[in-house]
Amino acid sequence: MTTTEQEQLRAKAAAELERARLRSAALTDVLDDDELVRQHSPLMSPLIWDLAHIGNQEELWLVRDVGGLPAMRSDIDELYDAFKHSRASRPALPLLKPGEARQYVEQVRRKTMDVVDRVPLQGRRLVENAFAFGMLVQHEQQHDETMLITHQTRKSTAVLHAPDPPKADGNVLPQEVLVPGGPFTMGTSTEPWALDNERPAHQVHVDAFFIDTTPISCGQYREFMADGGYERAELWSEAGWAHRNKANLRAPLYWRKDGDRWLRDCFGVVAPVRDAEPVVHVSFHEAQAYARWAGKRLPTEAEWEKAARFDPSTGRSRRFPWGDDDPGPEHANLGQRHLRPAEVGAYPAGASPLGVRQLIGDVWEWVDTDLHGYPGFTAFPYQEYSEVFFGPDYKMLRGGCFGTDAAACRGTFRNWDYPIRRQIFSGFRCARTPGGGELG
Ligand SMILES: [Fe+2]
Repeated sequence: MTTTEQEQLRAKAAAELERARLRSAALTDVLDDDELVRQHSPLMSPLIWDLAHIGNQEELWLVRDVGGLPAMRSDIDELYDAFKHSRASRPALPLLKPGEARQYVEQVRRKTMDVVDRVPLQGRRLVENAFAFGMLVQHEQQHDETMLITHQTRKSTAVLHAPDPPKADGNVLPQEVLVPGGPFTMGTSTEPWALDNERPAHQVHVDAFFIDTTPISCGQYREFMADGGYERAELWSEAGWAHRNKANLRAPLYWRKDGDRWLRDCFGVVAPVRDAEPVVHVSFHEAQAYARWAGKRLPTEAEWEKAARFDPSTGRSRRFPWGDDDPGPEHANLGQRHLRPAEVGAYPAGASPLGVRQLIGDVWEWVDTDLHGYPGFTAFPYQEYSEVFFGPDYKMLRGGCFGTDAAACRGTFRNWDYPIRRQIFSGFRCARTPGGGELG
């Protein structure tokens, strides 16, 4: 790598770290100390835990490991180790107070910026392509999305504001498109900041399938509800029905009935459900029941990625549905520019070669695949990043949402959660296997 290329990488790493920090500050500066230390939901950490954890991970990886500098606060490592304390138990820990946490993350960041300037970006896999910096940028952006989820769980007045996302472009789209059968390249070996579970690139054969052109809308979801979707056991898996009964599921999270209409609480603003928007805050089980009701199924993870990346004219897999360019505001609803998904049929410039829209951004999409490593997977830089979660407990989510930053979203990016979770910004689209004669 030339000196100029190294300098460009350093500048990019520094700029991305700075951008992530502005977002972390914006999410925490709008609330008073009481709201920062309080637990808004047992599913979520106090916001001030997230902030100091961001700083502590940065100290561990960038200051101590990459920078080779002495520990600043090894006494707090244990408090901010996500594997040592459940989210529910975190408010009772002797956490740094908001002022102390802010001071700590600033002190860490000052040292990090020195490290970015001077550390050689070669000789160790951790620093090649500035990977460690990219990993910490993604870590901070992912916690920012987590903090955005915590904002949604708050029960008081709105403090976040953003303009509405763009509307649908008005063209009538086909409900589904056929993705041709055959091999495609899944995952990546070249994306410099891709995480271990996205690697390596490998060939996967996928039979021909139909996939919905857009995510399922609230209007479509209300039809499922009106047709007794939540009362018909035959539409649900055994585990899904058991959970529906235990949790008394009746509608997506944050929906409530007001006479004969449905209202949704969106970051403290309660307003009628918008039928044209993708449904959000549904669990894997609800998505699966809807798909069965519609005579379809959820896509597998390989089907989703093929729909998002495969270009039939070249046989190549793209970085994103629209091509290899980084996401811009014309392509996808990412980066918390808006606080809700855009209407189904928005973002024509973000469509895949086959015309599938909104695969990236808007809502995370549940797919019917458990978290697993790709063939040739090796844990990097540590097993706790993803390998310890492999197995049947987690279902995959793909594509990012309005609260996901572009730095933490790629055509290959993989997210996962428990199939009962719905405080996340999760929606879905359906797929189906062609019937006899449909392939001509
Ligand atoms: Fe973390």
